[in-house]
Parts: sequence; C-alpha cells; structure tokens
Amino acid sequence: MKVLIVGATGTIGRAVAAELGKSHEVIAAGRSSGAVRMDMTDAASIAAAFKKVGRVDAVVCTAGHVKFAPFAEMHGEDYEVGNRDKLMGQVNLVLIGRETVADGGSFTLTTGVLDSDPIRGGSSASLVNGAINAFVMAAAIEMPRGLRINAVSPGLIQESAEALAPYFPGFETVPAARAALAYARSVEGAQTGRVYRVP
Ligand SMILES: NC(=O)c1ccc[n+]([C@@H]2O[C@H](COP(=O)([O-])OP(=O)(O)OC[C@H]3O[C@@H](n4cnc5c(N)ncnc54)[C@H](OP(=O)(O)O)[C@@H]3O)[C@@H](O)[C@H]2O)c1
Repeated sequence: MKVLIVGATGTIGRAVAAELGKSHEVIAAGRSSGAVRMDMTDAASIAAAFKKVGRVDAVVCTAGHVKFAPFAEMHGEDYEVGNRDKLMGQVNLVLIGRETVADGGSFTLTTGVLDSDPIRGGSSASLVNGAINAFVMAAAIEMPRGLRINAVSPGLIQESAEALAPYFPGFETVPAARAALAYARSVEGAQTGRVYRVP
C-alpha cells in the first residue's frame, strides 16, 4: 500500500512510519518536515499536497495542536486554536483527501486519552478529541467507494512523558511503538468507524 502520514516526523508519527514502513510505501508529510510539505490548517495546502502525491491507499494523521490552559482562563478564542488545528485540520484532510484515496482505502485520525480521561488544563483537548471520535463514527457510515475511517486514541506516550508527566499525574505511559500497532490495525484491517484506545 501507499500510505501518506501527516506528522510522520513527530513522536507518534515516527513510530507509525517505522511500523507501516515494514510492509508499505510511506510518504511523510509535515509543515517543515517530510518528503511532502503540507499545513493541514490550510485547505489549499492540503489540496496541493494531495495533487502532488496522487493516488494513495491510506492517509494517517498524527498531527494536531490544541491550547492547554486552566479552564478559568479559557475563552472562546482559546478553543478556536484546537478547533482550527487538530479538529478541522484532520476533518479537512478527510474532506479533501477522499477523492484521492483509492477504492477500499482508509483514513486514520488521532485523538488521545483526554477524550475520556480529563486533566486540568485539557478542556480544549477533550473537546476536540471527543469531536473527532464522533466525526469518525458518523463519517464511516457514509463513506463512498468502500473507504474506511477510524481514530486512534493513545494514552500518554512514554517518549513524551518526561515533558508532560506533571500534567498527567499517575497516568500510565504507552511506548509509541505499541500505539503504532493500532494505526497498523486501522490501515491493514477491515474495521471502520472505530476508536482504537491504547491506554
Ligand atoms: N505525545 C503524546 O503523549 C500524545 C498522547 C495522545 C495523543 N497525542 C496526540 O497525537 C498527536 C501527535 O502528537 P506528538 O506528540 O507525536 O506530536 P509531535 O511530536 O509534536 O509531532 C507533530 C508532527 O506533526 C507535524 N505537524 C504539526 N502541525 C502540523 C500541521 N499543521 N500540518 C501538518 N503537519 C503538522 C509535525 O511536523 P512539522 O513541524 O514539520 O509540521 C510533526 O511531524 C497530537 O494530536 C497529540 O495531541 C499525543
């Protein structure tokens, strides 16, 4: 399969690229890294990248930012950051990419443990992750040409834990390589509309 990975140079993306690269052709995409340059917050940039890459069998996204701040300090515009970036960036990847993905191909998006296990300062992440999980569930039943769509919701990644541990007290960590298996399951399996939780 030809697999486009948006965010392939990141902590999770590197592990996903290594796992999928064992048996597939991986094309890495990012704003300032990877063989294909793409800013998923910019619809024109997504369209240009798909035009350049051409037909792919799977699109995986392991990118997306949200604002972390105490709830008392969060205002409408603070949520816009995550809504524009991690939420609509991934939704637009699907909306724009669905013409380019081959029959029976797939999309795999990324959410995260905060979809169901909140932390202080993480209300935007929880909002966005929950929205993406729901989008995947709904889009799956209307996907054309046998296209599939799933989300992976990893726990706190071991390789990120040193920097993030103070915000995730008592959370167990997941090696990125183990989270990557859920992406392989989505890309290579037959299921659709699923959220693969990797706690
Ligand atoms: N790390 C964790 O513990 C963890 C746990 C659960 C969920 N998650 C979620 O998993 C996702 C990835 O996390 P990570 O820790 O692996 O992130 P990361 O190490 O910061 O990597 C992000 C990757 O995405 C690319 N990227 C960033 N913004 C982009 C954009 N607008 N368009 C295209 N590519 C973009 C980056 O490359 P460029 O800079 O070149 O664009 C990089 O390759 C995030 O949504 C995060 O919320 C992370």
